[in-house]
Amino acid sequence: MTNPAKPIRERGLFITIEGPEGAGKSTHARRLHERFRGVIPLVLAREPGGTAIGEAIRTVLLDERHREMSAETEMLLFAASRAQHVGEVVLPALEAGTSVLSERFVDASIAYQAYGRGLPVEVVRRVNEVATRGLIPDLTLLLDVDPSVGLPRARGADGKEGPRGRGDRLEQETLEFHRRVRAGFLQLAREEPSRFVVVDGTLPAEEVHAALADAVRKLLDRRGWCS
Ligand code: TMP
Repeated sequence: MTNPAKPIRERGLFITIEGPEGAGKSTHARRLHERFRGVIPLVLAREPGGTAIGEAIRTVLLDERHREMSAETEMLLFAASRAQHVGEVVLPALEAGTSVLSERFVDASIAYQAYGRGLPVEVVRRVNEVATRGLIPDLTLLLDVDPSVGLPRARGADGKEGPRGRGDRLEQETLEFHRRVRAGFLQLAREEPSRFVVVDGTLPAEEVHAALADAVRKLLDRRGWCS
């Protein structure tokens, strides 16, 4: 009997980068993209956003005037942005053999909307199963930082949605809220040690980058892809 034909192209890898506010996700995502895009076809994406519809939803979510937004509305809007992102960008890329590095995914909804806002974890998971069509990251890089360090950083960053110093609607939440979010991320990492790699976001940037790049390289090695 002959072996089934090997597919010409393998599915791309789906890597997510997560963490509490001010952990350095965007900077490190950009650096990883620069480092690996010459090794594998790789696109950089972000949530909420990543598509025209998703960016419009992002504006609604982060607008500081929308303080009356309920936890359920918030969860559904993040999920709606995700559904569009998965359908329009992530799945087509993966199916074409291109890998995707996404700033944030379902873990953010569990950390923020379940652990932070208090919605049941199972409800957030179920809604997101619809949004993602069951897609699970191959690797999740969790940049960990205590919110007492990260939050002032995030609120003071340039080029973001909210007023400088105050931050966007989520960044304006209390330190207690952001502590629950961080605890949620760490709990998720403990529950799925084979998917998560946790890196201390307070280390010098070069050390953080080296640890993140090492995790990506190991994933490529496991796939048998030259890195
Ligand atoms: P960002 O800071 O990564 O751009 O994300 C914008 C904010 O949205 C940030 O405060 C985290 C929050 N967020 C959620 O609360 N739930 C989600 O599912 C996602 C993707 C982000």
